[in-house]
Amino acid sequence: MSNDASRTHEAFPTDAPAVVTCGLPYANGDLHIGHLRTYVGGDVYSRALESLGQSTAFVCGSDMHGTPIAVQAIEEGIDPEAFALEWHEQYAETFPKFGVEFDNYGHTHDDANRDLTYEIVDRLEAEGYVYEKEIKVAWDPVDEQPLPDRYVEGTCPYCGEHARGDECDEGCGRHLEPGEIEDPVSTISGNPAEYRDRAHKFFKVSELSEYLDGFLDRLEGTSNARNQPRQWLEDGLQDWCITRDLDWGFDYPGEDDLVLYVWVDAPIEYIASTKQYTERVGADTYDWEEAWREDGEIVHVIGRDIIQHHTIFWPGMLHVADFVEPRAVMASGFMTLGGKGFSTSRNRAVWAREYLDEGFHPDLLRYYLATNGGFQQDVDFSWEKFRDRVNNELVGTVGNFLYRSLLFAHRNFEGTPEADVSEEVEARILEAIDDFEAGVNDYSVRAVGNATVDLARFGNEYIQREEPWNLVGEDDEAAAQVIRDCVQIAKAVAVLFEPIAPETSEELWTQLGESGSVHDVTVDAALEAPPRDFGAPSELYEKIEDERVEELNEKLEARVAEATADDAGTETDESDADGEGDVSDIEPVADDRISFDEFQDLDLRVAEIVDAEPIEDSDNLVKLTVDIGLEERQIVAGIKQLHDVDDLPGTKVVVVANLEKAELFGHESNGMLLAAGEDADLLTTHGDSPVGTKIR
Ligand code: 2FM
Ligand code: ZN
Repeated sequence: MSNDASRTHEAFPTDAPAVVTCGLPYANGDLHIGHLRTYVGGDVYSRALESLGQSTAFVCGSDMHGTPIAVQAIEEGIDPEAFALEWHEQYAETFPKFGVEFDNYGHTHDDANRDLTYEIVDRLEAEGYVYEKEIKVAWDPVDEQPLPDRYVEGTCPYCGEHARGDECDEGCGRHLEPGEIEDPVSTISGNPAEYRDRAHKFFKVSELSEYLDGFLDRLEGTSNARNQPRQWLEDGLQDWCITRDLDWGFDYPGEDDLVLYVWVDAPIEYIASTKQYTERVGADTYDWEEAWREDGEIVHVIGRDIIQHHTIFWPGMLHVADFVEPRAVMASGFMTLGGKGFSTSRNRAVWAREYLDEGFHPDLLRYYLATNGGFQQDVDFSWEKFRDRVNNELVGTVGNFLYRSLLFAHRNFEGTPEADVSEEVEARILEAIDDFEAGVNDYSVRAVGNATVDLARFGNEYIQREEPWNLVGEDDEAAAQVIRDCVQIAKAVAVLFEPIAPETSEELWTQLGESGSVHDVTVDAALEAPPRDFGAPSELYEKIEDERVEELNEKLEARVAEATADDAGTETDESDADGEGDVSDIEPVADDRISFDEFQDLDLRVAEIVDAEPIEDSDNLVKLTVDIGLEERQIVAGIKQLHDVDDLPGTKVVVVANLEKAELFGHESNGMLLAAGEDADLLTTHGDSPVGTKIR
């Protein structure tokens, strides 16, 4: 198995109960297929674990608290609980339509979560891990209200990129503490915000470095989730503010005007939801306490924007409160459309409901989401790519093999011919089971899916090679052998593809004359004899026609164009919102003059980009090798989305050569490129001054 070197726990399946969780969706907007990537990933993973015989609870719930929900509810004139519950119910109905079947889908505002949250917070207090401190809170001086997290935007103090109040979402990806963001502006009113002193509660994360260091050594999952937190740890951990000035949420014990930060009670719902599952099925079937308090295998499946919460804060809380730490974190990349992030407010999305309304089978999307690129890669959605994967692999490879084999078996043998599976085919099925198991232990849902598609590909080659249609009537025994083998491969496909394509695998199971549900069997069933008799098969997967893709594309392109126009429109709206009417977009010249001497402190040089390489886990950072005449330097620049990275080598640029070194995303940046405006239009020279020339 490829991941052996980084495995720190006993391989799956183990005897302990596993918990697979998916990041809780905020209960405040429609689900799109970008969201579904994580949920399908979690569902595939938990089904695959069960197929290996691992006792598993797959849990999630809606994230009901937080500022955005409070503000949206106010805007709609309803109470936040009613507002969030409505979305919660919609999510609970939508997930199963994509085969995402949680064992329990709760929400963070219920009593189960409230009780556990207070238990854990009391424990953090009792262990001496909580203290009070006055901090600067962003405040809208015009509207006279505090502006927690998402309602402030400004500049990241670490990398200088534009950032949200709680997270540097466009730059270095760091979680930002209240008071950290620079040049804060209210996103509600557009007013520049002030900072005011308020007493808040802090969790002493800084004292957990040693524990977290060891935890990260043990942590399994995708490499982004294991590597990124290393950097945060090396930079030194800050204590974490766990309260907010808000009316909506769980009150902080003993404090009237503070609620717990949404990120405290949200992950606790992972435990509460598991507990609710046990309450339904009984502890003999699944014991939440064993899972969370003794020896569970906890696997969190999340989006890569919330790695820090799941690898620093959450394990810190679990550790102090004496719960089981996560075994693995699987962090998925983002989905984009035309290179830009999905946007709910801009309608730049392919909506979950829309996909179903188009009449596509959920298993097609599941297959595409689970296997298109590695889990941690960003994936740009297009209907063409979706069609290609469906037509080439699901229809052309898997569906084609199943239909031709089962039809032949039905017509010539009325089902499964009497014969034993050949050694060759038995060995190939065992190999597929191994690949499947390796996929699970590598936390790769793609490998889990590929195990079956590769097996079906072998099936096609096998039937093509053996030509049973030429054997019937000539050598019936040989024909029976080939078809017996093919039926066994078909059964193995049903069993091994169940995590990826649960509904069509169930159909296949029934076509094979099997009883019960393929969901309830383990991978061993792939080699058990299929029933003797079965009827005529039907095709499981339908080809997507080109005209269909053209139609869908037109619709989507129009939508993306509108969203882009909206982006531009909003910028205008926002500049109007500052109350100055028709102001120019050009930033005014700074009031403070600097002396010539101060200017001369800057060592600006003509340089040339020699090499450029995108930084995998970052949305916009590129690692550049830059020749500054005296030497080659490594510089990290936030220009990935704005330039075709492959075109950069050979470009003349201007570099601040004596800037302090910095570390961005774990990469040293030794200098800075000068660029103009939001588009990061790179500065270059008019003539051909050689590299190294000083700029005066
Ligand atoms: O970022 C989000 O969408 C959060 N609602 C995720 C919460 S996951 C968890 F830890 F609770
Ligand atoms: Zn940053």
